[in-house]
Amino acid sequence: MKAQEESESDSTHPTSDFFEIINNRRSIRNFTDKPIPEEIIKKVLTAGIRATYSAQLCSIVYTSDSEKIRTLRKTGVYPTTKTLLIFLIDIRKLERLLSFYGRKHSLEHQVSVWLGLQDVILVVENILLAAESLGLASVLLERIPIHSKLVSEVFDIPSRVIPAIGMSLGYEDPSVKTEIRPRYPFETVVFEDSYRDISEYEMNSCMEIMDGGTFKGEFYIKERVKALLKQKKGESDFSPFSWLDHVERKFFSSHWTKISIGKILKFLGFKFKKENDKEQ
Ligand SMILES: Cc1cc2nc3c(=O)[nH]c(=O)nc-3n(C[C@H](O)[C@H](O)[C@H](O)COP(=O)(O)O)c2cc1C
Repeated sequence: MKAQEESESDSTHPTSDFFEIINNRRSIRNFTDKPIPEEIIKKVLTAGIRATYSAQLCSIVYTSDSEKIRTLRKTGVYPTTKTLLIFLIDIRKLERLLSFYGRKHSLEHQVSVWLGLQDVILVVENILLAAESLGLASVLLERIPIHSKLVSEVFDIPSRVIPAIGMSLGYEDPSVKTEIRPRYPFETVVFEDSYRDISEYEMNSCMEIMDGGTFKGEFYIKERVKALLKQKKGESDFSPFSWLDHVERKFFSSHWTKISIGKILKFLGFKFKKENDKEQ
């Protein structure tokens, strides 16, 4: 009984219950000094590449080298990260394979990036859950594409390979408590047979859930996940910060508004053909 109590209070205790893993998972931004054994990393990565795919367009580069991780600080990687994973939309490998076997190989349609992102997302989720099941913790890093040049330099990533998403991995620092974040209510997300707009009442309940209880105005301060403003100076009042403030910033005033996806793709060696707008 004592052993059971001990293991239950240990937040890094691995579990094999699939639904427990999904329901208890949360993004962790503070990790202990404990390195991740190479065989655990390999196991997690192997689970990742077992994900279903449209064209196997996802490749991964990773490092546990603290110097490399430090070099990438401005990409938003958390300082205590033990292992950093970068998920790549790897158009290059498929083009090389096609070319090697004498096929049409120039993937110049935007849809190749779309398909690649679909593949990447599935690998990411497999890895995130496999890591969790082995007692590891993680957080994803959205700013990686913005820093494509730096990321490509650090990992020797050639042209036509897109750094799409990052992941910080490590063992959760138990001294920093992180709560499980809420989600919109089921009936505002899942619609049987036909889509419907959610009602005003439901909108209120979405907001209550996202900002209520312990999340009221505190989550973004404690977790420091507030979307950065273009002007950071003079920006100190976190208190009225809510879920909607967060997403509003993300779309209207964060780093994302400063970048052009087209420019990033051009830098990475893509020059897409004009889209054909004809009805399918
Ligand atoms: C594609 C993607 C990118 C993300 N990027 C970041 C990031 O750069 N920094 C961060 O702190 N959290 C990041 N997150 C984590 C989300 O903020 C977090 O998953 C969300 O708030 C839900 O919380 P939970 O994962 O704890 O349930 C990202 C999540 C996703 C899906």
